[in-house]
Parts: sequence; C-alpha cells; structure tokens
Amino acid sequence: MILLTDRELIEMAKTASSHAYSPYSRFSVGAALECTDGTVVTGCNVENAALGCTICAERTAVCKAVSMGKRRFVRIAIYADSPDYCTPCGTCRQVLNEFSPDIEVLCARGDGRYVSYRLRDLLPLSFGSSFLE
Ligand code: THU
Repeated sequence: MILLTDRELIEMAKTASSHAYSPYSRFSVGAALECTDGTVVTGCNVENAALGCTICAERTAVCKAVSMGKRRFVRIAIYADSPDYCTPCGTCRQVLNEFSPDIEVLCARGDGRYVSYRLRDLLPLSFGSSFLE
C-alpha cells in the first residue's frame, strides 16, 4: 500500500476543490478521504439554488466512498483557498463520526499551511451508533 504524505493528500483535496459547484457562496472546498485500504476518495461542495440542498465537500467524499463499499477512514484533508482554515461543519462532523470517530482531520488553507485535529476533539460527547444497539 502506498502511504500518502499529508501534503499529497492535501494536494488531492486542492484539485478536488477546482471541481466545486459553488456559484452562490463562491467558496470552493475540496476533500480527500483516505480509506483504510489506502484508497483516496475525493469530493467537492455542490451547491443548489435551494440553498439548503447544498452538500459539503466532506459529505460528498463520504457518500462516494460508502457507495463504493468503503466505510472505514483514516484521514480526511479539507482544502479551501481562504485565509482561514476550513474546518468541517457540524453536519459533516456527525457524518464522519458515523463511520470513523477517530479519523484525523487535516484542514488546509490557501497559503498551503495546515492544521491537524482528531474528530473526537472536534465532536466531543458525540451521539453515535452505540446508542442504538
Ligand atoms: N463547505 C464545505 O464544503 N465544507 C466545509 O467544511 C465548510 C463549508 C461549503 C458549503 C457551501 O457550499 C460553502 O462551503 C459555503 O458555506
């Protein structure tokens, strides 16, 4: 298995951000989701004229991966060409939590700098599948 560096994963997220459909916010986001088998699944945000139908880059990537039979993830890189780090919204944190509560979350900004978090720190006291067992 080829292990990607953080920078390589972020580069894939950056490329994915170029496919963003974001005519309303003009805020393009890309995500690159590394699965436990080494596969990387990318996603971008997909907006809609009915704004609430918008799907974030992270959820695009997760839904693509799950539909490919991949449910366990190691890292996700999130890239936006913005001055601030683009951290995942609450809904995306919850969706990531469903599959990989301990995933590493890399948030990269336009100047190439990035920060690393653990999802469990971004979503403390989360509600998850164990509550429904
Ligand atoms: N967005 C993402 O795709 N991921 C995030 O982590 C934050 C926000 C998108 C949603 C919307 O298309 C645009 O960024 C502005 O909120």
